[in-house]
Amino acid sequence: MPDHLLAVDLGAREHYADAALYDFEYRRRRADVRWYRDLAARVPGGAASVLELGCGSGRVTVPLARDGRRVVAVDQSEAMLAALEARRARLPAAVRDRIEPMRGDLRQLDVRGRFPLVIAAFNVLEHLYTRVELDACLQLVRRHLTPDGLFAFDVQLPDPGWLARDPTRRWARTRFTHPTTGEKIWYSTSHDYDPVSQIAVIRLYYEPERGGPEHVVLLSQRKYFPAELEALIAHAGLRVVERHGDFQGGPLGPGAESQVLICAAARSSTGRSRRKSIPRR
Ligand SMILES: C[S@@+](CC[C@H](N)C(=O)[O-])C[C@H]1O[C@@H](n2cnc3c(N)ncnc32)[C@H](O)[C@@H]1O
Repeated sequence: MPDHLLAVDLGAREHYADAALYDFEYRRRRADVRWYRDLAARVPGGAASVLELGCGSGRVTVPLARDGRRVVAVDQSEAMLAALEARRARLPAAVRDRIEPMRGDLRQLDVRGRFPLVIAAFNVLEHLYTRVELDACLQLVRRHLTPDGLFAFDVQLPDPGWLARDPTRRWARTRFTHPTTGEKIWYSTSHDYDPVSQIAVIRLYYEPERGGPEHVVLLSQRKYFPAELEALIAHAGLRVVERHGDFQGGPLGPGAESQVLICAAARSSTGRSRRKSIPRR
């Protein structure tokens, strides 16, 4: 495999190999969890079951199950699924039994059933690196939606300033205590962005304060620009029902942190368009 493709492939996995560190790094990320829970409640009739793509260690999965929803939770990372399993083991039996963890690759997934809600929370789709990979996943979503079902996801809004940063410089330098080893670590990042493939390969550096070799973790993300994303969604037979720039319902515009989208099937089998809007709570 050519080096750049190897880096992209490693970058879909390495960041998720240490699930305890992942959970620590994103422990304050809460607004999105609230938003996905509220959406599941807003789906007319309530979303009794949810298909969650790229569930990770269960940050969103567990709150949805606590709300009474059955969640089929798919991820390709063994480490993240092991962390979800450990979380499940600590839950009351009724909640635990509503979570069905499943190891699978979003590009070639085989799931059963249809769902009133499919979600891919926190940049999961940025791990689908080509049009073909994203299309395979969106087609899968479409096949697994109930006639009135919704597909909700968020990806970052590409920031031209960030993409153009000098790849030889280190950014975001911070110090933290590793949640498992207790070691004091200096963290920093750098990245290369390829404007043709629209893939950023990010290097996350973990440098022990006491000295010794630094650990470098790759994270690769496909950047999706808003108009392109809308076209790809339409190409897969879906359409955008709502689009926001954050999890408070703010507009998607310059400086927005994310693209938060709710989609539905574009047409019914009779050719009529389906859902027009989702009730507010
Ligand atoms: C940023 S994490 C988000 C995890 C979780 N949704 C959350 O909100 O914390 C992205 C997840 O996507 C998973 N992932 C990446 N590529 C995948 C693929 N091709 N198939 C299945 N899961 C994938 C990773 O293993 C990781 O758990």
